[in-house]
This record gives sequence, C-alpha cells and structure tokens, in this order.
Amino acid sequence: MKKWTINSWKKFPVKHQPNYVDNKELELVLSKIQKYPPLVFAGESRSLKKALAQVVEGKGFLLQGGDCAESFAEFHPDNIKDTFKVILQMSLVLTASASVPVVKVGRIAGQFSKPRSAPTEKKDGKELPSYLGDNINGMDFNDKAREPDAKRLFRAYSQSASTLNLLRAFSQGGFADLRQVHLWNLGFIKDKTKGKYKEIEDKISDALSFMEACGINSDTNRRLRTVNFYTSHEALLLPFEEAMTRIDSTTGEYHDTSAHFVWIGDRTRQPNGAHVEFCRGIKNPLGLKCGPTLKPKELIELCRILNPENEPGRLTLISRFGADKVEKFLPDLIKAVKKEGLKVVWSCDPMHGNTIKAATGFKTRPFENVLKEVKSFFAVHQAEGSYAGGLHIEMTGQDVTECTGGTQKISEKDLSNRYRTHCDPRLNADQALELAFLISEEIKKNSKYSKKIIQAAS
Ligand code: PEP
Ligand code: CO
Repeated sequence: MKKWTINSWKKFPVKHQPNYVDNKELELVLSKIQKYPPLVFAGESRSLKKALAQVVEGKGFLLQGGDCAESFAEFHPDNIKDTFKVILQMSLVLTASASVPVVKVGRIAGQFSKPRSAPTEKKDGKELPSYLGDNINGMDFNDKAREPDAKRLFRAYSQSASTLNLLRAFSQGGFADLRQVHLWNLGFIKDKTKGKYKEIEDKISDALSFMEACGINSDTNRRLRTVNFYTSHEALLLPFEEAMTRIDSTTGEYHDTSAHFVWIGDRTRQPNGAHVEFCRGIKNPLGLKCGPTLKPKELIELCRILNPENEPGRLTLISRFGADKVEKFLPDLIKAVKKEGLKVVWSCDPMHGNTIKAATGFKTRPFENVLKEVKSFFAVHQAEGSYAGGLHIEMTGQDVTECTGGTQKISEKDLSNRYRTHCDPRLNADQALELAFLISEEIKKNSKYSKKIIQAAS
C-alpha cells in the first residue's frame, strides 16, 4: 500500500464534493481553519477507542444519535440540551434495565455535510444544485443560496465549537448527575413512555439512597456525577477534514480533531476512493456504513485497509439495510468478518434503509419499520453468535413530527405539523425512548447468549 499523507486522498477518485466557484477563497478559508484550535483532543479519541474495544468484547453498548444534519437555523442551546437529555435518558434506560454500560456518542458538533441522491433538484421547471448541508450551501431554493460558499465553513466551525462547549459543561458540570434524572424529562413525552421511565427513575433513586447510606454519593464519586460524551459526524467534506487533521504532539500520530469519531458513508466507501484513503491514515475510531450493495469480500478488503492491525475499537460497522433486507444481507457480512477473525463493533442504523415518501410528499420513516430493523439486527446476531453492540439513529429532543407511528401515533397527515429537519426525518424524543426500551428487552433476551460470547472472547 502506498504511503499515506494528509492530502494523499487528492490522488483518488472523490465523490460528493461541492464545486466551489471561487477556489482561491476556499484555499484562504481552509488555511485559516488549519490554524484554528482543534475541537477535540487526541487523548479523548483514544479513550473512546478504548471504550469501543470493550463493546467489541460484549461489555458495553454504543449509542450514537443526533440530527441527520445540523443547521444554522436550528442552532439553539435548548435544542442542544434536549438532544443531550434524550441521549442521557436512552442510556439510562439501557443501563438500568439491561445492566449494560453505554458509550454515548452524539451526531453533533460538526454533522453538517450531506451526500445527496441527486446533484441537482428541480422545482417548478427550475433546476438548481442540491442542498449539501449548511456548511456548504443554503436550503432556500434560489441561485444565490444554492451556490457553495466557502465562508460557511467558519460559521459551521464556530457553531461546532460552542455546541461542544455546552456539551462539555453539561456532561461534567452537574447536569448529568444521577440525582438529576427527573430533570432530564421532556414535557411532551407521552404518558405510556413517561410511566415506564418513572419506574426507572424510582429504581435509580432507591439505588442511590442505598449507596448514600453506604457512604457513596455523587459528591464523593465522580462517576455518579459526570458522563463521558463524545462527538461524531460523517467525514464527507474532505478539504475541511484535512484542515482539522493535526499531529498529536504526545504520540506523533495524525488525528482528525473535528470530532472524536468519524464515519464513512454508504455512498463514499469505495476501497480505492478518496474517503477511504483519507480515513485510513487518521487514528480516530472510525465508522463504516454497510448497505445492501456491500459484498462480504469488499467489506473484508475495507476492514483490512481501515484497520490493518485489527485493533479492537478502531472500526464500527454500521449496518443499514432496511427492515426487510437485514436477514438477506447481514448474515453473510457477519460470517465473513468472523471467518477472518476481525474485531469490530456491530452497530445498527435502522433509519437510512427505511426512508419512504409519504402520500403528503414528506420524506418519512415508519416507526414500526425502524423497530423491525432493530429486532432483525438482534435476531441475526443471535443466530450467528456475534454481539449486537450498538445503535445509530437520527433523533432530536424536540417534539417533531417527522417519522410516522410511535406512542403518539403520528400519521402521514400529521407530518406537516412540526416537520423541521434539514435533511432526513428524525425520531422525536418519545420515539427514541420507546426504542431504548425495546432494545433493553432485546439485550435482556440475549443476555444469556452474550454472556457466552463474552466468556468465549476472554
Ligand atoms: C447519514 O448517516 O446521514 C447517511 C447519509 O447515511 P448513509 O451513508 O448510511 O446513507
Ligand atoms: Co440521514
């Protein structure tokens, strides 16, 4: 394999990049960003990799979630707080009812660029470049908005920095204290979900009182007061990712400091493509989206390129087939990975294979299909004797109506009420929590068999 350099990706075919009209301006913007502070520290990415290595061994569960695309318009402390709350609640459900430690990773603080199915969009006879994410162009349907503007990268960087700042404050400053679980509730959660969550709150409160009596409380024990929360996004816009990649002074290794974890999308995972070339050289933990067109042989080739030393925690395979296709495609991928002895986290994205167009014209995802994909994911892993280790979802803490179904019984007609996404439809807080309860059941059901896997691995 040829030597990797920070810009060796430029010699490879690259997909889903914008055409900037003014390349000089782009270069100027990138050279400034290169001098901006890193958003994350390489040591933090290493901690995440260690935590993911535990998941590989069946000793944890990865929960990754957030917006499909962050936007300038929806940038608000309340939105950040509410997304954080839902992730905390979901992980509490998983930890409390399935007794599994949860590795928490947000699709946040940098999840802007989007690959699109078509390079242009047509409306009323007019054709314009597609919207590619707020860090590239604007969503409004006019020539000016749709022209890629390099200056947007500054705004996206600054939004990511202040989002991360708030997340760090929440996770370390007392908001995540287990004594505060009742404060993580969101007003609009439906009674049924609320009731189930209340049971967990009570269980935790009892446990805390018991520990308090034994002299252990969140004042004396940091683990009860803080959480580790990590950030992630798709490493799609390579010139930006390159500008954020720095040499870690403590190890001399290259790290992409735009997030702790970055992933390669289903549309840009060609083994001889620029995205794979870029990602193989950075030391962050990586994700790889695995859709129906990925053949087992190609997956193995990709694992070898991206994780040549078979380091556990380096690579998370995120399957996203669609509810009806999991049983057809996932078993062969698992078999191939097992045969080669590759150490990976298997995570399930039940969103991207289940997008449909509602009769009302909105892009949506029926919640029952999301649940079905998750159930099939667990069933297939159980049948293959592998560990179902994670969930990757598009969700928000806001009370949106973007995915149909759930306890709120959102219908196609309801979608227009609060449809706010800048790209794909997200689960709302109620649906996300319901999903966490379902997954806890699946993990509990599988706990006997996962104990066997854990024993076999250790
Ligand atoms: C995404 O996660 O937003 C995405 C575009 O997914 P995929 O690459 O799996 O289509
Ligand atoms: Co999406």
